[in-house]
Amino acid sequence: MASCLKQQQKRLGIEQLRLTNFRCYDSLTLNLDEELPPVVLTGHNGAGKTNILEAISFLVPGKGLRSARLSDISKRTPAARDLPPEVVSMPIEWAVSAHVRTLDGVVNLGTGRTDASERRQIRIDGQAAKTQSELGNYLSAIWLTPAMDRLFNGDPASRRRFLDRLVQAFDAGHATLSSDYNYALKQWGNLLREGRLNDTWLSVLEETIAEKGVAIAAARRDIVSRLTYFLEKEPDDLFPSAIITLNGLLENWLEEMPAIDVEECFREKLKASRHLYADGGSVQGAHTSDFSVLHREKGMDAALCSTGEQKALLISIILAQTKAQMQEKGQCPILLLDELAAHLDSFRRDALFEKLLFLPAQVWLTGTDVTVFTSLYQHAQFFNIKNATVSTLAEVA
Ligand SMILES: Nc1ncnc2c1ncn2[C@@H]1O[C@H](COP(=O)(O)OP(=O)(O)O)[C@@H](O)[C@H]1O
Ligand SMILES: [Mg+2]
Repeated sequence: MASCLKQQQKRLGIEQLRLTNFRCYDSLTLNLDEELPPVVLTGHNGAGKTNILEAISFLVPGKGLRSARLSDISKRTPAARDLPPEVVSMPIEWAVSAHVRTLDGVVNLGTGRTDASERRQIRIDGQAAKTQSELGNYLSAIWLTPAMDRLFNGDPASRRRFLDRLVQAFDAGHATLSSDYNYALKQWGNLLREGRLNDTWLSVLEETIAEKGVAIAAARRDIVSRLTYFLEKEPDDLFPSAIITLNGLLENWLEEMPAIDVEECFREKLKASRHLYADGGSVQGAHTSDFSVLHREKGMDAALCSTGEQKALLISIILAQTKAQMQEKGQCPILLLDELAAHLDSFRRDALFEKLLFLPAQVWLTGTDVTVFTSLYQHAQFFNIKNATVSTLAEVA
């Protein structure tokens, strides 16, 4: 694997990571090798590995790798954990900051919670940023976690989140688009269910829902066609190729008519559904779309594939995404691969590690068993974590 170390291009990624009051960490500084080789975090269950990946996931727009409430993140003391929340005054502040190597040089990204709201603050080179989407101008990240192991068998909402993350990695504004859509839909639903049938107000909200909903559906169609291109034209030699199909009212309409007409149809449909929704019914839109994946070679629905095959399908989708982003933006997303090795046979695992060495962006890997990463010993930076204390392998030895 020695040749893999010779990178044509400098990798993009995190040179230094700092966490403050973040989950199990009071304060942590990780200095990464300047070549930004893969980072391997090992340690027992509950040591603090995923928390580090989650911290990194807050350096890009969105709700982070666990979609957690911001109030759950600040470090809780053992005493606070055992007492009811109303009797302990919990710290509300937490922060993550990083020196990030981007295509335009090193930038300092910071995020965290400074007040009791569920809105995180963003700083870019010390300056407050207005929206989270600004982070996406500097860094993009994609993650695979054990929670996604049954993605194809689970609820459509997690699949939508996965797809939307891929869109966001391309277009940082997608996170704001989704939250504006959901907010307008919620307000519309509240008005109807509370019987406040103000036509002007409802129409304004329907306009917003239709506009944002169609933009979301169009962006999802776009990412699926980009991924399909790479999945078909450059199928991976190790991981099964996937056929991705979007299923959703708006996505289907976009197949047949221009976006402007889809907006009009969606607005009319929302208006016509007011009474139905007020009576507890549901309405379709960007919030009900789904996608399905077929294992191309086997012609088998991913939901019927084994857990290992499902993981392999997800990996092939993510590898296609890295190619699409490289082609389109000249920038590869960093990958956060939590417990990735769990369902892969050793041959595929080692071959995947070798592929990851060629990516022009930093890759973070976690696992409980360090021997799984033997083939990376000479090529990655290893940290061992024990009770929220992080040591290099040299320190452990
Ligand atoms: N807000 C918090 N304050 C303190 N500890 C937390 C908080 N949230 C999670 N933890 C703890 O952090 C520990 C490490 O979690 P995690 O990083 O998921 O472990 P793993 O190494 O298995 O990935 C767990 O014991 C978890 O209970
Ligand atoms: Mg974990």
